Amino acid sequence: KRLRGDDPKALADYMKSDQCRNVFLMLGAGVSTAAGIPDFRSPKTGLYANLARLNLPTPEAVFQISFFRNNPVPFYTLAKEIYPGRYRPTLTHSFIKLLHSRGLLHTCFTQNIDTLERKAGVPEDKIVEAHGSFATQRCIDCKTPYEEEKMKKAIKEEEIPRCEKCGGLAKPDIVFFGESLPDKFRASIPSLREADLLIVIGTSLTVYPFASLVYFVPEDCPRVLINLVEVGDFDRPDDLVFTGKCDGIVRVLCRELGWEEELDKAWVE
Ligand code: OAD
Repeated sequence: KRLRGDDPKALADYMKSDQCRNVFLMLGAGVSTAAGIPDFRSPKTGLYANLARLNLPTPEAVFQISFFRNNPVPFYTLAKEIYPGRYRPTLTHSFIKLLHSRGLLHTCFTQNIDTLERKAGVPEDKIVEAHGSFATQRCIDCKTPYEEEKMKKAIKEEEIPRCEKCGGLAKPDIVFFGESLPDKFRASIPSLREADLLIVIGTSLTVYPFASLVYFVPEDCPRVLINLVEVGDFDRPDDLVFTGKCDGIVRVLCRELGWEEELDKAWVE
């Protein structure tokens, strides 16, 4: 199965073959930019380029747990903007749903906290939200869960939510720099040994340990990068690299697979 290059037909043929049963995905913010959610590191449009107004020592400080403890205001200002609910899944999210309904999706590892994979209809047991999500929240000190409705209200009204038990800061269960990743992330890593295909979409592959997942699939497992720009080290013999907007690339791939009509249907629903 030599797949090197950027031929969508070669990839589609492989995906239709008996050899390809377990597809793994690694997603980043680029999957959701078409939904209107900015990514982090794109030079002009990324969140980190647009945080000057929050007076941070560095843009990443907004997601640093030590900074948050002293000054939670920047995070809550940002949270109001990126809080899920206002956004709908993209065509690429629908492609993930199709992979699932075709019985090909093993696990979708995502760094995204927007929960759009779930919204697109991918079942929760196939998703590993490696950087957590806005779906639950708790006190950063005593870890007591905090009510969702109260968190929603606090974010909307620009108040700082505090734990009713100990007075500590309550925060959505998004993994900040300095916090450990969810247990499910570590527990899911060994399954990558069963991968017949890894598709990496819309991530700069700069944040570890997430970025290291590309090394856990077998040597002969084709790895596919779909990203605006080339990132990472896709230099194994069976690696494929497609540069451009993911929705367009996914459409071409689905055309080759004979899934295009179904893709559009899934997206509209
Ligand atoms: P980045 O902003 O670092 O990377 C997004 C990548 O997607 C870039 O390489 C873009 O070129 C690409 N991209 C943007 N729009 C695209 C499109 N329509 N089609 C294809 N590619 C596109 O975002 P992540 O890699 O997700 O962590 O960032 C990783 C982590 O860093 C995030 O989870 C977040 C951040 O700090 C936490 O919040 C804990």
